[in-house]
Amino acid sequence: MEIKVYRKLPEQAAKIRVEVFVNEQGFCDEFDDTDNNAVHLVAFDDKTAVATARVFYDRSQKIYIIGRIAVIKSMRKQNIGTQIIAQAEKEILKQNGDTAYIHAQMQASGFYKKIGYSETGKQDVEQGCKHIWMAKKLS
Ligand SMILES: CC(C)(COP(=O)(O)OP(=O)(O)OC[C@H]1O[C@@H](n2cnc3c(N)ncnc32)[C@H](O)[C@@H]1OP(=O)(O)O)[C@@H](O)C(=O)NCCC(=O)NCCS
Repeated sequence: MEIKVYRKLPEQAAKIRVEVFVNEQGFCDEFDDTDNNAVHLVAFDDKTAVATARVFYDRSQKIYIIGRIAVIKSMRKQNIGTQIIAQAEKEILKQNGDTAYIHAQMQASGFYKKIGYSETGKQDVEQGCKHIWMAKKLS
């Protein structure tokens, strides 16, 4: 598994996000201004893009956030989500951040708990889907 880092949203990441968040999960507002200020990660299995995530600094909350984490359906439960989050955490440390935040879909919160994240707030609803803020201290 090779994970590449991009300063601009690459086509492979956009394709996975449409496949997972729009076609599979039914979200509408998939792309936003944050994409222009984020670092984008894409995991490749041989030459095939199989997962993505983005990392950015949220100036209003003064926190580093990992978001838009998606593994293509046929490749789930093979540790790829864990690996792409680990790489995203390295990016935060590189930018001198010490804590990673994720606005997690409730259905995925068990995954984040397994890799060291804890709930930090109350549930909220974004685009009709229950979410919760989670965080992990990195250093
Ligand atoms: C959530 C997601 C990123 C997990 O990626 P993955 O590659 O399947 O996860 P991993 O294989 O690294 O899983 C690590 C562990 O978490 C568990 N896990 C994975 N998804 C889980 C979930 N939704 N709930 C609870 N546990 C989960 C795995 O079973 C594994 O446990 P183990 O170590 O005991 O075997 C992936 O399922 C996905 O892309 N889902 C659709 C998009 C999505 O919901 N993204 C999250 C938005 S907040």
